[in-house]
Amino acid sequence: MKARRQEAGWATLDLTSPEAWQDLHSVLAQARERHALARDGNGEGWSVLRYAELDALLRDPRLASQRPEMFARQGLDGGPFHDFVGRMLFTQNGFDHARLRALVGRAFTPSTAARMRPRVREIAHELIDRVQGLGSMDLVRDFAHHLPVRVISEMIGVPEGDYTRFAQWTSDLGLGFSLVLTPDRRRTVDAAVEQLRSYVSELVDQRRHAPGRDLVSALIQAEEAGDRLSHQELIAMVMNLLFGGHDTSKSLLQIAAYTLLRHRQELERVRRDAALLPSAVEEVLRYEPVLTGVVRVVHEPFELAGVKLALGESLFLSLISANRDPRRFPQADRFDVGRRDNRHFGFGFGLHSCVGAALARVEGQEALGVLIERLPGLRLAERPRWVPFTAIRRLESLRVTF
Ligand code: HEM
Repeated sequence: MKARRQEAGWATLDLTSPEAWQDLHSVLAQARERHALARDGNGEGWSVLRYAELDALLRDPRLASQRPEMFARQGLDGGPFHDFVGRMLFTQNGFDHARLRALVGRAFTPSTAARMRPRVREIAHELIDRVQGLGSMDLVRDFAHHLPVRVISEMIGVPEGDYTRFAQWTSDLGLGFSLVLTPDRRRTVDAAVEQLRSYVSELVDQRRHAPGRDLVSALIQAEEAGDRLSHQELIAMVMNLLFGGHDTSKSLLQIAAYTLLRHRQELERVRRDAALLPSAVEEVLRYEPVLTGVVRVVHEPFELAGVKLALGESLFLSLISANRDPRRFPQADRFDVGRRDNRHFGFGFGLHSCVGAALARVEGQEALGVLIERLPGLRLAERPRWVPFTAIRRLESLRVTF
């Protein structure tokens, strides 16, 4: 689990042991102090670890976004998941990306997210009603899993009876974004993509015939300079939003609860002053971001911090490391719910910055607010473990008492 020192000045990051994933921060900190870059353990790419470099690279046109071919490293060179990734917005570049982004932006706006605020609060209350008398729960299974799936399903127009099936598919699909993809995991992920695709295809057909006030209908109608989404693009976009809207927010809620429960003084500050909720959520996204990082490919060779980067070389822009860079954030390892000047990379940055950030913020703020208000005796029942290797970070479970 060590960042190995090398003569060249940079470290080599070895993240192949599950234990390294229990304390990524200290592994990354050692490497970050040596150099802005670290060699990836398999010798096939670089991780970029410091804030200033990420800030520049996230808007650098010499880098292109991750293409599905990048998954070849995990042995993934075809099949349903590979195909799905190739259609996701974050793997598109240039004109294709700009076009799709403009169209989704027409249908999915910050005010769409803001309108969901009262409903998110209601759902959070309903979920607490179910567990309140029990005295304990697994916060991942009983709370974090349900809230975002209900929110995004209602927005998209998925009928309530289908939530459970559909939530399982998006969770399974999320496992595809892993450093190590075992054959078993791969089968689960591929099956989830196929089922979700056929489900969404039917949903799109239904809305074409009977439009409603939901996001699918809005996407069907979205038009930008006379342009519209094709049927295949629509299916991919809805899958993208359903997936983006569930798995990542589910992680945010569990990580936020865990982080606050580990920092009881900070939790008490929020309890005393609910106006701190927005900055507390931002601080969670900085201190324990959901995505470890984003991948880019060198499109035009250049030199970075004394390292020559060749065409086609892969760069892992480590959001989690940059967010703890002491060169940018004073007392970077301190969790401070009132932190100001907190321009973190929890939602990425630049052209590909998160489309759903406004919705995720609403969910984080309202869900945490309700948890804190309704369960004053909330405590960790045990120290949870991080699931290793996943790019979208998550806990195995989060057992709490109240
Ligand atoms: C806490 C929750 C979330 C986190 C931490 C998160 C994080 C991110 C990050 C870091 C990126 C940048 C990817 C890159 O640069 O390659 C991204 C992009 C994206 N996110 Fe999110 N996200 C969250 C919630 C959501 C939600 C709720 C939705 C939609 C309903 C969503 C949809 C998207 C989409 C479509 C992109 C691709 C944008 C593009 O490439 O232009 N995300 N997200």
